[in-house]
Amino acid sequence: MSLLLIAPNRDLKPLSESLENIDPNLEVDIWPKVKNKDRVTFAVAWNHPKNVLGNYPNLKAVSSLGAGVNHLLNDESLPENVKLARLITPSLKNEMAEYVLQAVLAYRHHTTRYTDQKREAFWDKHKLIPKEESVVGILGFGEMGSSVADLLILNGYKVNTWSRSKKDYEGISSYSKDELNEFLNNTNILICTLPLTVETQGILDLELFKKLKKPAYLINAGRGQHLIEEDLIYAIDTGVLAGAWLDVFEEEPLPSNHLFWNRPKIMITPHIAAVTDSNEAAEQIIENYKRSLSGMEMVNSVDRKKGY
Ligand code: GLV
Repeated sequence: MSLLLIAPNRDLKPLSESLENIDPNLEVDIWPKVKNKDRVTFAVAWNHPKNVLGNYPNLKAVSSLGAGVNHLLNDESLPENVKLARLITPSLKNEMAEYVLQAVLAYRHHTTRYTDQKREAFWDKHKLIPKEESVVGILGFGEMGSSVADLLILNGYKVNTWSRSKKDYEGISSYSKDELNEFLNNTNILICTLPLTVETQGILDLELFKKLKKPAYLINAGRGQHLIEEDLIYAIDTGVLAGAWLDVFEEEPLPSNHLFWNRPKIMITPHIAAVTDSNEAAEQIIENYKRSLSGMEMVNSVDRKKGY
């Protein structure tokens, strides 16, 4: 039996070493070098080539190498009976929370504007966006969303959340699925930490931006496909949004001729908000590998119907 790691463009050596440190008897293959495809029972995949997972007839389970699983759900070669899991580690949650906090602070303190001004040797002051005009609203209140909420609450922000069902959680105002309009009407800084599903694809559009309280700002740390990119340009150019901070894009890497690069009010980071730590990942992967062999439910297992 072997465990296969598939993540092109990622150095998988540290992860395979961490796995072998925990369990020296483990057979680990790093795609595309697979000794015997019939022996592969478990795979760990990230941005894998489409439909490659269908090549392993004895595959029982697949873990994402991150929190998102849209790349697994989109793989039509994966039989229904193959179980799926996502990877949630403490550092992934902390990184995401810190990433969002710094984006909120940078927006309020005009950090990117001052960076641009420094380049031009230009001295100009801008008014700090007050906290009362910085009510945050988190779309998606799962593992990532709740971690973001905790850190923002700790920093004195008023936090709204939007999720399938209303949550009883200290320090937040929770809105359920059918209360999206009220949630938006009470939110200045909209943060997307949603999973990508048929329902959430394209949710960040002009109609939604218009419902936000002014001044309004967008932080997208979900998936690029949540956002209608041309609507964002229009919303920023017409003042519906004061700006946006994006970590994810419809096409990654973001093409060098993309309009976003030339917009000073759009901050861009290259999908680094939360990056899986190999040591932490290894423990969860081994746990799930063992569980999958004995037919037990995996940790952070994915409900294919829900899409996360
Ligand atoms: C990152 O995008 C992740 O899904 O972990």
